[in-house]
Amino acid sequence: MNFKKEDLSLDAAKKMDEQDSLSSLREEFIFPKTSTGESSLYFAGHSLGLQPKRAKVLIEEELQDWGKYGVEGHFKGPYPWLPYHEFLTEPMARLVGALPEETVVMNTLTANLHLMMVSFYRPTKSRFKILIENNTFPSDVYAVKSQARFHGFDWREAVVELKPRNGEMFVRPEDIKDQINELGDSLALVMLGNCNYLSGQCFDMKTVADQAHAAGAMCGFNLAHGAGNIVCNLHDNDVDFAVWCSYKYLNSGPGGLAGAFIHKKHLGDPNIPRFEGWWGQNKSTRFEMGPQFDPIPTAEAWQLSNPPIFQLAAIRASLELFDKAGIKNLRAKGDQLTGYFEFLLRNKLENFVQVMTPEYTEGGQTRGNMLCLRFAKDPKQLNEQLQEKGVICDFREPDILRMAPAPMYNSFSDVYRLVEKIEAFANG
Ligand SMILES: Cc1ncc(COP(=O)(O)O)c(C=O)c1O
Repeated sequence: MNFKKEDLSLDAAKKMDEQDSLSSLREEFIFPKTSTGESSLYFAGHSLGLQPKRAKVLIEEELQDWGKYGVEGHFKGPYPWLPYHEFLTEPMARLVGALPEETVVMNTLTANLHLMMVSFYRPTKSRFKILIENNTFPSDVYAVKSQARFHGFDWREAVVELKPRNGEMFVRPEDIKDQINELGDSLALVMLGNCNYLSGQCFDMKTVADQAHAAGAMCGFNLAHGAGNIVCNLHDNDVDFAVWCSYKYLNSGPGGLAGAFIHKKHLGDPNIPRFEGWWGQNKSTRFEMGPQFDPIPTAEAWQLSNPPIFQLAAIRASLELFDKAGIKNLRAKGDQLTGYFEFLLRNKLENFVQVMTPEYTEGGQTRGNMLCLRFAKDPKQLNEQLQEKGVICDFREPDILRMAPAPMYNSFSDVYRLVEKIEAFANG
């Protein structure tokens, strides 16, 4: 990334915005207002993405159909509720690099993680270990530990954490390989985030999946911080399963529904156990209400319940924008935007900020849109001051601020103004 000294000005940032072919997408979102009525500088897309203006329109359409048709809304109207989730399948599959039959939008992330582990964590007496990151999100840790306990294992033996080397911040790829090889025949499942929620480190999914498979284990990824952020290529990367939420980079609103991916090679395999519900039942016989479960031959077989339509409508609004932009274009802009953020921090605040996220590498995805930062002064105070000045980002105990310029709606000028406000605190 080739930023020059001349780029250290607001004018330069504005010029970059003029040249940005995705800049108009910003107009599709609602920015929270400050007390003085200005738009916030919103850098919390990794926690909760902004509201697409069309979300209200699409949710209202369903409210209207409910009023107009009552129960008949399941079959009537432009987007009947019975197949409503299917309207999301293709755009979601495109976004994560999956085949439509491998993709389903349903439930929430942790619920989907459990459902996937029911199918793909099938421990035996000798092969029962799960490899995770040492600083993974707590819900993932609770989920894998409880799965190990559910199968009768002591989680202290079953759950193995990948750690960075002493004095280092990131797990080295060769250490993942060594750890997988060391666990060998005892390894049942590798379950990593493809983009770590705290450090922002991204893993090469294909390499990890190949290593897991070579050891005879399954490989699943949590894309909570990857979906809508990085290019996932789930099918080609030969991942066995993946799960993700949609309220972060996918802008579907608080508690929005989640996604699940099951690789085609596992679809229709009668030996894979599954927790089942009526929404996974063959669509042509579902309403015969028979006792025999005949699974849909796609990822939809994992569905349990009829889904919340208003939540699906919100995701539809967001996916329209992802389709319009294209995830590869968003990643390319994201690299520029995050690179510019880092460039400004390193050149204006070198002794004040430490960037804890891996560096950008040409051709590889070592990080997405989020920078994890440490500061030379109290980060809580900085966060409070930033909030007063209309900046929204987030603090993580004990001393981290995470800031994510989302290419869908953040501009280079936003990034410049953010750094100006950090500078004001540093020099204050
Ligand atoms: C990495 C990761 N895993 C799991 C979760 C939990 O998600 P949910 O509450 O949707 O189950 C989150 C939420 O922020 C997350 O970031």
